[in-house]
This record gives sequence, structure tokens and C-alpha cells, in this order.
Amino acid sequence: MGGIFGLACKFSPSLDVISTGLKRLLYRGHDGVGIVGIVDSELVVKKYPIRSDKALEELRFFNISSKIILGHTRFATHGRPSLENTHPLLDCKGKIAVVGDGIIANYEELKDLLIQKGHSFSSRSDFEVIPHLIEEELDKGNDFLQAFLNTLRKLKGIYAIATLWVKENKIYGASMGEPLFIGKGEKCLFLSSDIPSLYGFSKEAVIINQGQAFVLTPQEYMVIDVKKGNIVKELTIKRVKYPAEVIDKAGFPHYMIKEIYEVPEAMLRAVAVVQEKYLNLVAMILHSARDIYVIANGTSLHAGMIAGYYFRDLAKLNAHVISAAEFPFYGLENVSIGTAILAISQSGETGDVLRAIREAKMRGGVVIGVTNIMGSRLTLDSNVYLPIGAGVEMAVPATKTFVSTLIVLGMLAHRIGVLRGIIDKSDERNFVEQVKALSFTLKKELGRIEKMIKGNVEIFKGWDRCYVSSRGINFPVALEGALKIKETAGLQAEGVETGELRHGPITLVSNGYPVIMIAPYEKEAKISSWKVASSVIEYGGKVISISPPDVNVVGYHVEIPETTKFLSPIASVLPLQLLAYKLGVARGMPIDHPRALAKAVTA
Ligand code: F6R
Repeated sequence: MGGIFGLACKFSPSLDVISTGLKRLLYRGHDGVGIVGIVDSELVVKKYPIRSDKALEELRFFNISSKIILGHTRFATHGRPSLENTHPLLDCKGKIAVVGDGIIANYEELKDLLIQKGHSFSSRSDFEVIPHLIEEELDKGNDFLQAFLNTLRKLKGIYAIATLWVKENKIYGASMGEPLFIGKGEKCLFLSSDIPSLYGFSKEAVIINQGQAFVLTPQEYMVIDVKKGNIVKELTIKRVKYPAEVIDKAGFPHYMIKEIYEVPEAMLRAVAVVQEKYLNLVAMILHSARDIYVIANGTSLHAGMIAGYYFRDLAKLNAHVISAAEFPFYGLENVSIGTAILAISQSGETGDVLRAIREAKMRGGVVIGVTNIMGSRLTLDSNVYLPIGAGVEMAVPATKTFVSTLIVLGMLAHRIGVLRGIIDKSDERNFVEQVKALSFTLKKELGRIEKMIKGNVEIFKGWDRCYVSSRGINFPVALEGALKIKETAGLQAEGVETGELRHGPITLVSNGYPVIMIAPYEKEAKISSWKVASSVIEYGGKVISISPPDVNVVGYHVEIPETTKFLSPIASVLPLQLLAYKLGVARGMPIDHPRALAKAVTA
């Protein structure tokens, strides 16, 4: 992920404009800022490979007299935060500059081909292939637009880019799944990764739809269909309406709800961010390991527990899933050469995880990190790591990173399953297609689910506690729902396996006690769960059932989309995240920053 902000003006604008735009896009990436302009027919590049908010402070002292400027704030997915990996990225001759947002999925093969042709690369960023590909196309005698379009046709992935070429006072850009918008001011045309950041610069935003490229000059713009190569006449235009104060939350009142709504997009990115080479390597390590420990804390631990089901069902691998805090007292002494440790941490900075993997490595274990933050300690201390590509998650309560972790671990389990001959390659392909289908469905359904959940908040009136219950592959979702309700809504919530509910916890149920039941995916488990739900009602409890359409459903039904067993935890967790959020708002809780918690618990 990353944020792109650019402008083409009839005069040389102040850098304050680009700085303001990038500041509003900081939520898209915090790992460094870069800008590029054209002065005396040369590219002038300035990069700040430091935290982006600090970088923007530094940018105030830089001066550039260029009518065309592109700026970028980076979220590191390929290559740690460093000078070389900070955008803009250049071709061999330093004549073409590219800034990008998203993921270029086939960059490895393109890079190999370009290296064979004599191109030299200076970064580890997937986006660096683009200026070199354009350079190749120009060398063939194409004009820049043709070279740009030909390049886009070679790229796979989900991304948006903007490009400068020293010989023209124009910005060339394209949206291939990540957003880009054009704004029209009196003396400048603007380009940005979101609409709110254009506030104050332009009254309207032209949407660059997926599969469209554009050319921007200080006077005008032209939108082109990348596949067909023709000019697009019918454009969608939106009013720029958000006040500057809420820009970084894109109009949502809290980061948490914004990030829940980003889940469908994060799902697609998780699929795109996984690189074949590393997926194979990690699959091979786990396949040949003597024993496997999955370690994590909090929400990441719940994702790890679900991964335990994935590994068992898809690859016939038994992994010990355990809290990273408990690992030193439970698993560590068994670690030696032949042990694999899968360490999950969205922040990559959690103290319990980092301490555990250091010890494990010292005993000869191989550590595989799974994280959202490139350049985090986990990426540095692991033997190999898989990024989850969720994009920046600002709210302390983790939402979209949970989902992205599940997808990456699901892909991993499928790859091991294929390697071990337990499942077919077609099952693996289907999984990716199912992820895409569910992402599409959730994008449509989230609003409806939020409305249904809103109606359920009343049930909690007079109660400061509840149970969240499920079984089978969705049992860890009950634990995660309870954690989210504790953190966000400030209620005492307990996650209970539904069978266990009858072995003690049910004794507290009376007089409207709220019990949230997540329908298990497994058929037998589902039938028995509805029976338990009915007895909760008999004892006076109130049941909210989160389930796909089902004739036997008990209590207040929150309907979720039907999906596969392995994706059912994703469909089930979203109503719980929304419920936690709605309850928190109703109770006036500090949603994004729960008391005594931080995004990374490093101590
Ligand atoms: C969840 C939450 C915590 C974290 C836990 C692990 O909303 O706030 O439970 O999940 O501290 O964090 P990471 O994944 O960064 O290691």
C-alpha cells in the first residue's frame, strides 16, 4: 500500500501543497516519503526513508522549482523501509520516475528478464520493474504513452501508479485495482489516492476506474482504457466533500470502522502479496519439520488457532498452537534442529513473540514470521517471513489484519497440502477464487450486516457481560469476538466452546443474559449448537445467532453470507467486530485507543 499525491500546474507550486496532500494520505503508508519533479530537463528526486510524518516535517526545508511534482508516502510490502526502497523508483538512465501503491504480483519474473537484458536494479521494491519496462518500450521506438500502456499490459497485480518522464511536462498514471482520482483546481490539476485529500484543492474528483490510464498536464487530462487503448469519454465524477479534520479517516468516525470496511480490499491484497518463492519455501520447511509450533498473542493467536485447523484438514499436519507468552514454559524446551516456529504478529513488534523466537532460534529452530509490517523486528529476526499486506491498521483493535492473516495461512496450508499429496492443485486455485468471491460478496453485504448488528445493541442494555460461543473451526472466532468486545466495548465477554457452555457457564444465564452464538460450519456441531442455544433461551438468556441462512436458527438472527468451511471464520468474525464497535460507540468508549493497550505490546 502507499499514498500517491501529485500536481501539474501552470506555475511552480509551493511544496506545502504536496505536503498537505501526503499528510492526508499518511493512513495509507508510514514508511517513508519521496517526491520528484522536473527541473531543467532533469528529474529532481528527494527521498526521506524515515517515518512519514517526520519526513513531511523535513520536506518543509526542501525547495524544488518544478511545475509537475509527484509525491508518495510508502507502506513497505516488498523491501524494508530504506532509501533505495523509498519511491520514486527510477529506470537505468534516471529519466523515468514511478511511484506506486499496491502490489505487482509478477515482478520477480519480470525482474529476472530485465536483468538478463542488462537492466540494473537498486531496490527490492516490486514497483522498480515499471520504470525499466517503460525504458525498454521507449528503446523500441514507442512514444511515452504507448510505452506506458504496453508496460501496464505486462503487469499483474493490484496497484495504482503515477509516472514522470523528463522529456514531457505530464503525469502518466493508471489505476489497476488500487484507487486514483484527478482533481481540477484553477491553476493546477491534482492526482491523489483518495477523494478527501483533494479537499480545498478541487471541488470535484474524477474517478479513474480499474483498468484505466490517464495523462495529466497543467491544463487538461485524458483517460484511456488500458486494454483497448481508446480514450474513455464517460467519466464518473464525485464531489469532494469531507472536511479536512476527518480526512485521514476517510469520512468514518473511527479508524476501527474504516478498517472493518477495508476488509474486502485487504482480502484481495493478501492473495496478491504472497510470493510464490516464499510460499514454497515456507511450505517446504513446515512439510519437513519434525514438529511445528504456532505462536502468537491476542488476535493473532486466534488466527493461529484457526490455522491449526487448516494445517490438520488440508495438510494432515499437527501443529502446537500456543500463546507466545506461554511458549517459554511449554514448548521451548522441546525446540531443536528440525523444529519450525510459525510466529504471527501483525505489528511484528510484540515482545512475547520476539523473545520466544530469539530463544527458539538459539536452540536450532527455524522461525517463520507472519506480519503486516515490513521492516518490523519480526521480519528482521525470522529466518523467513510472509507479509499479509493488510495495509495500515491504525485502530488498536485488530480487524482487517486478522482476516488477512487467515488468508495467507490458508494459502500456506493449501500449498503444504499439495506438496504432501493430500489435496489437488485445483483445490488451491479454488481457495483463491473463493477468497475473491467472498471479498466481492462482503463488499456488498457489509452495510446490511452493520444495520442488523445495530439493532442488536439494545439486547445488551443493563448488561455488562456476555458469552460468545461456537465450536469447530469457528471456536477461535468466538474467542476473538469476546476479545474484541472486551477491548472495544469495555464489556466482560467470555468466549466459550458451545459444548462447554453446558458444563458450568450456563449457570449464570438468566433474565436476558446476552449469548452470541456463531453457527459452526460442521453439520453435526451446528445441530447440537442450536440445541444448546434453545436451552440458553429456556434459562432466560437472549441469543444472537450469527449464521448463514438456516431454518433451524435460534434467537435474533444476523445473517451472514454462505461460504466454505475454511473461509467461514472470516464471514463470522465481521458481525462480531461490528457488534464490538457499535457497543463501544453506544457506551462512549475510546474505540481506537482502548485503555492500557497499544498497537504493539512490546514489553
Ligand atoms: C487485538 C489486540 C491484541 C493483539 C496482540 C498481538 O485487537 O489488540 O490482542 O492482537 O497484542 O498483537 P500482534 O499481532 O501485533 O503481535
